[in-house]
Amino acid sequence: MTSAYLNAATSQSSSTTTEDPACAAPLPVLGRDVTVPLVTGGEVTYAALDYAASAPALQRVWDDVAAYAPYYGSVHRGAGYLSQLSTDLFENSRRTVAEFLGCRPGDQVVFTRSTTDSLNLLAAVVPADTQVFVFETEHHASLLPWRDARVTYLNAPRTPAEAVATLDRALAGREQGPALVCVTGASNVTGEIWPVRELAAAAHRHGARIVLDAAQLAPHHPVDIAELDVDWVAFSGHKLYAPFGSGVLAGRADWLREAEPYLAGGGASRKVARRADGGVDVDWHTTAARHEAGSPNVIGVYAIASACKALEEAGFDTLVAREQRLVRRVRDGLASVPEVRVLSLFGDDAPRVGVLSFVVEGWNSSHFAAALSAEYGIGVRDGLFCAHPLVRTLLGSDPQDPGECGAPEAEPGERSLNAIRVSFGAGTPDEHVDRFVGAVRELVREGARWSYRTEEGRCVPDRDGETV
Ligand SMILES: Cc1ncc(COP(=O)(O)O)c(C=O)c1O
Repeated sequence: MTSAYLNAATSQSSSTTTEDPACAAPLPVLGRDVTVPLVTGGEVTYAALDYAASAPALQRVWDDVAAYAPYYGSVHRGAGYLSQLSTDLFENSRRTVAEFLGCRPGDQVVFTRSTTDSLNLLAAVVPADTQVFVFETEHHASLLPWRDARVTYLNAPRTPAEAVATLDRALAGREQGPALVCVTGASNVTGEIWPVRELAAAAHRHGARIVLDAAQLAPHHPVDIAELDVDWVAFSGHKLYAPFGSGVLAGRADWLREAEPYLAGGGASRKVARRADGGVDVDWHTTAARHEAGSPNVIGVYAIASACKALEEAGFDTLVAREQRLVRRVRDGLASVPEVRVLSLFGDDAPRVGVLSFVVEGWNSSHFAAALSAEYGIGVRDGLFCAHPLVRTLLGSDPQDPGECGAPEAEPGERSLNAIRVSFGAGTPDEHVDRFVGAVRELVREGARWSYRTEEGRCVPDRDGETV
């Protein structure tokens, strides 16, 4: 019934063929024509360079969601035509995501709200005595969910090989019993790609399991769960051009099947009956539905499936080649400004995705980011990026400091307490990257044209702050 509709809704490709994949056109995204006011007067098209926080929706995703919206209905709970269509759409999306991730037979794809939700779900289902190993360099979503497990925090490695050796050593000294390693695929701070396959091999050598936090990797690189030989993968729709509130945890079924449901309620239960003693007996599903209680977010899930298809059709070879060209452009541009220091754990030659953080000597990062926005229409992020231990290590700042913005302008030579992050991807035109590099050069050379103040922890332009 629905397959013809689904094929129609997901068959148009938005890729552009060119001779040199590195010069392919960006994928069409929403917001590409949005203009924003400049504090200095006039308007410019907004340069969204904060993909690592949330990427804009692919036009293709938006179109697929809009085409489905009139057919929207309840999932797994309705006899009507649209309920059945929506249920098929939901389950077909699960298959699409499984294919996108190269899942093995028997793997489950559980739909969640986000990467954070996926990792918290996994933390809730690990056997009670599981030892967890996590590098201190992780995003807080990977660092923090393991409250009840016995966690070993591993020191920041300075090379990929050191990461593997550190994990190897830690696992060799562990106690008997189940163990889980949690590692990011690409850092949300430096964009550096971690040696996932080697870390997975180390984990398995010592009888441990491994979950890959692919929040920053999946939007930029193919992630193949079987080829990487990881046990689970987690990612978020909103970083994969599908900002409709869904995420994914995919991988081995056993711990998921054996644990109590993450949420108790309708959809997770097959049968519920009153007991003679007055209580209730519950027969929980053993499929992914066990951890998907409540009415599922079919639009969010369909949007993720649509994004997976769009990225595959565009071709990761092309997407990677194009993005690497932009990475080189940004890196070369920043390298030409001596006051800029790009943050890196693994060094200049480390492979990375389109995510870079940096500090500018003599500038408070919040001030710099505010000027990029107000004077150039460029949206980047400043702060510690929900990876406080890593950013503090890279900045060399006191791990005890609160990480506040501080005064809008740091004294020359003063150490930054936070950093600026620029991030981009499949929808980024060259012009955004070039405008960014030009703006960095100009701000460093000539200073801000406006004055700024800190308001509720944010650096904002002064209302009458023109300085030149
Ligand atoms: C590496 C990494 N992991 C996990 C997360 C959490 O993702 P979400 O906020 O979608 O749950 C992020 C978000 O920035 C991230 O960069």
